Formats: sequence, structure tokens, C-alpha cells
Amino acid sequence: MTVNAPKLDMDRIIDDRRTRIIVCCGSGGVGKTTAAAAIGLRAAERGRQACVLTVDPARRLAQSMGLTSLDNTPRQVDGVDTSGGGSLHAMMLDMKRTFDEIVEAHADPDRAAQILANPFYQSLSSSFAGTQEYMAMEKLGQLRHSDEWDLIVVDTPPSRSALDFLDAPQRLGRFLDGRLIRLLTVPAKAGMSYMKVLNAGFAVMTSALTKILGTQVLKDAQTFVTAFDTMFGGFRERAEWTYRLLQAPGTAFLVVAAPEADALREASYFVERLAAERMPLAGLILNRVHVSPAARLSAARSLAAAETLDLHDRPDGGDGGNGTGPRYGLAAAVLRMHAERMNLGKRERRLAEHFTSAHPAVPVAEVVAQPEDVHDLDGLRVIGTILSQQHA
Ligand SMILES: Nc1ncnc2c1ncn2[C@@H]1O[C@H](COP(=O)(O)OP(=O)(O)O)[C@@H](O)[C@H]1O
Ligand SMILES: [Mg+2]
Repeated sequence: MTVNAPKLDMDRIIDDRRTRIIVCCGSGGVGKTTAAAAIGLRAAERGRQACVLTVDPARRLAQSMGLTSLDNTPRQVDGVDTSGGGSLHAMMLDMKRTFDEIVEAHADPDRAAQILANPFYQSLSSSFAGTQEYMAMEKLGQLRHSDEWDLIVVDTPPSRSALDFLDAPQRLGRFLDGRLIRLLTVPAKAGMSYMKVLNAGFAVMTSALTKILGTQVLKDAQTFVTAFDTMFGGFRERAEWTYRLLQAPGTAFLVVAAPEADALREASYFVERLAAERMPLAGLILNRVHVSPAARLSAARSLAAAETLDLHDRPDGGDGGNGTGPRYGLAAAVLRMHAERMNLGKRERRLAEHFTSAHPAVPVAEVVAQPEDVHDLDGLRVIGTILSQQHA
């Protein structure tokens, strides 16, 4: 399948020293983690000091990249060809650990301990919708800030929607200094002058919240917010810094999609959103496309041939009733499979063309579906090579 769109030139992006961050985003299961790892490996083997920040690598892929220690810092990956002077580090995001580290870095030890032990914090840091996206951004900011790598390739969390990665930080930020949480804080800061005015209404509000959340949860939340108060500014500042980083010309967003209606629709939204945020889109990776090795034999002719073979296999037509069974059964099955693939390929092409006609300027790279999962460096190299040979 080749869609009618400009070709993505992956090596130009990788080799351009001004590229400092590559972000792979897209909806769930389309190949973000695979693409990020493949690009990081290729960049390292082309001489860059690359670091891959993965979020949810499959176990075998994680093992092959040495992502077994969970200390939330990048580790050098073995088995990488470093003869070009490059290197590859990789890490797997530990969302809770990242959150804990922020608390430890920004609060004095007593207060940090108090926050970390707070049940409200514990549930926020391990399960709040958006925490993973927020922490991915936070970690990206940290890695970029350290300036140890000249290229950081970011994989994004397995959200249903690709947009979550961009929305979550603001959502969490809004939550942290939003109205609800300020309401919760007030009783803990009783004595402020405006309390008198608010008091009557507030008692009603608090009792309603207590009914809904339970006394203990409410108390935990209040304690947490009070302890956390001093850190709000830091959180927002860093989120804004990372946000600006994502808008900088050294960043390249790659939207990954499978050639399926839902994934491509999601990719379309994301492309529009990036434009609205003035974030630099490098292209679309159309992953797991199906091609047939005998593309010149059409589905229709293939099916017709299969039917002819079936005719020969009838008891009165094929084996002469000598009991040897269908002679052409295998050939007919292969022809049918070929026809199916051709039809699938056609469908995928139609879907992809729908995307490219809406976004004609977006460069596209197509990656054929591999016969098996991508679970080691060799598999990643194959994907990297395909990504970079879109001109042929
Ligand atoms: N081009 C491909 N051919 C075959 N398998 C692929 C391909 N791309 C990804 N996969 C496999 O699909 C699964 C999902 O890929 P993954 O990168 O984890 O997706 P995501 O990070 O978007 O959820 C993995 O098992 C991966 O090995
Ligand atoms: Mg993933």
C-alpha cells in the first residue's frame, strides 16, 4: 500500500542535531512504544546520545532493552552498535515514584514524609486519571533539563485518547489549585478573615462533602492540600516550561496510527490539536499495514482461480474418486488468503487516503505488519529501517 502523501524522512529528523525531542503519540495499541524504541535505537546507531522514555513496554521488549531495574532513571542499553559514537539509554516511567520524587525534592523532609504517608496523596499519585500523563511530561522535563542526552524519544501513556497527553497536565493542575481543593483547604486555614463570611455556607458544603466522601477521606484531603500548598507554584511552573519545550522547533511530534477507522480519526483530531497548540508535527506513522507479496494478482482473479480449483476437487471432477482427498485444497486456500489480504489492503488504503485528503501536507511513513511481535533489538532495527526507507 502506498498512500498519496509526502514521505516522512525519518533519518533527516534523527540526523538533524537540532532535533532534541521526539514524541510518539496516538491511541492505544497502535505501536507508540515500538516506534519510540525503534527510533531511539536507530538514532543511537547513527551517532546520537539518545534516551528513550517508555511508558508501558511489553515484557519481552522491556527485557531485551534491559529495562528490568525499576529505579526510575535511564540505564544504558546493551547490544547497541555504538561504533558511530552514539549511545542508547532507556527507562520505563514509574508514575508513583516520579510523583514521590517531586514531593521529596520540593518539600522539607518532615513535610515530605507527611505528604507521602497521606492516603489521599497515595491514591492521587497512583490512580488519578491523568497522573501518568502528567508524570510522563514531568519526567521528560527532568531529562531535558539534565541535558545529558542530545535526543530524547518519548513514548506516551496508553490512554484511550491521544489528546490525554496534552490535556492531562492542565487537568491535574486545575485540580490541584482548583475550586474544590481550595474549598477543602479553607477549614484547615481557619482564622482567615473571609472565613467569617463564608462560614455559614461552608458548613453546609463541608457536611455535604463529608456525606459523600466520608470524614476520613475529607480530612486526608484537607491535610494533603495544606501540606501540598507550597508546591503548587512549582508544579505549574514546570508544567509550563515543559509545555513550551514541546512547542519549540527542536521538538518533533509523530502521530502513530493503525490503518483503522478509529485510530485514524484519533490521529486526525491530534493533528488538528497540535496545530492549534502550535506544536511541531513531523508526520504520521501508519503502522501495521498489510501488503501482499503478489500485488499484481487481484482479489477477484484470485477468488475465481480458487473456485476453479474447488471444481476440480469435486469427487466427479478431481481425484477420480480414488480417495486421495482434495488435490488442490491447499492452493485454493492460499489463493483465498491472498484475496483477503488484497481486500484488507484496499480497505486500509481507503482509510489512509481519507486521512491524507484531510491533511495533505502531513508526511507519512508506512510500516508493514511484521509476522510477529517486535520484542528485541533486531526487531526494532527492522522497524527503524522501514521507517527510514520510505523513498524507495
Ligand atoms: N509493525 C508491527 N508489526 C507487528 N507487530 C507490531 C508492529 N508494531 C507494533 N507491533 C506489536 O503490537 C503490540 C502493540 O505495540 P505497542 O508499541 O506496545 O503499542 P502502543 O504503545 O501504542 O500501545 C506489541 O506487541 C508490538 O510488538
Ligand atoms: Mg505503549
